Amino acid sequence: MSTSSTAMSNNGEPLFEAFLNRHDEHAWEEVVRSIEPHIHEVDRSATRIWFYFFPLSVARALQQAEDPGQLARKLILKGRYLLKNQIDSSHQFLYGTRFWPEVKSAVAALAASTSAPASLDLAEQIRGVAGEVAGRIKTDESLLVGITAIAFMTLQQVGAAGFKASTAVGKKPASKTPEQILRDRARDDNQGLLGFLKPDKIFTITFDETDPDARFKLINTQHLTTAAAADKREYHSREPRCIVDEGPIPVECRSASCGTCWVGVLGGAEKLSEVRELEWRRIKEFGYIDTEDPKPLIRLACQAQAYGAVSIVIPPWNGVFGRFFRGYRSLLEEAEQPSGS
Ligand code: FES
Repeated sequence: MSTSSTAMSNNGEPLFEAFLNRHDEHAWEEVVRSIEPHIHEVDRSATRIWFYFFPLSVARALQQAEDPGQLARKLILKGRYLLKNQIDSSHQFLYGTRFWPEVKSAVAALAASTSAPASLDLAEQIRGVAGEVAGRIKTDESLLVGITAIAFMTLQQVGAAGFKASTAVGKKPASKTPEQILRDRARDDNQGLLGFLKPDKIFTITFDETDPDARFKLINTQHLTTAAAADKREYHSREPRCIVDEGPIPVECRSASCGTCWVGVLGGAEKLSEVRELEWRRIKEFGYIDTEDPKPLIRLACQAQAYGAVSIVIPPWNGVFGRFFRGYRSLLEEAEQPSGS
């Protein structure tokens, strides 16, 4: 269906996009929280990590900026921070990525529909699409809820035209079952018969579950970036933010000052050291996460020590935007105050 037959809102915005655009980052947080119990365990953390990796506030600020390049420099954005350039690949760390073609076409059809949305509850709509696609391809709905939420948010950030137009083919997902993936995440390295006597236990850190070679070894209690730096394979040509001979996790300062080394934790968050004051303060200033959780899903790899095998995912960009958006929000709140109050 052509966009010319798409139903329009009063201000000329396609109805479905107008509906999506009524949701800001805070509204989306509520949506993700409410659909979370319906997401299969294999993708529950991964879905939340994806939403941390692609914040709506950053995308909107860049879209609305007079000079997006200048704003990107101000927020020290480095790497691939625009979702429009990775529509079909940003979610490759989810199990549900294998259902992306079906989910994407269902969401694109919804965006092109001339009928009013079936529900004005976004969470309900996401579950409705996931259920409909699951029935059609005969798979468990819970495996589709996370990737469907991602499709809705992607459409909101990139617009229906860009969403439909992208045709990039993502990496082939691993052929493991969700249960195998969960078992792999829970497994720790076998230290041998007398392993408990070993002074230096060795653990495996996985940084891409779809690639059997994407692993490095870590000596018990090492920081993630220290262990990663011992991996001398070539990463710089694939990810220019990686320093030559410093491993697969991009780093700069190694002291919680730059924000380069943030990672998502897909499995084993409980086997990382608790967030200390410096990491807690800085990760919030960078804008990545604001939580009281002592073992959250987003960490600074130069501050997190591991005590076991952990599976992480490395975001394609980094920046420093927390302070900017806090200032931006208080300006908006000030503007909304009735005058004289
Ligand atoms: S390398 Fe700079 S914050 Fe970790």
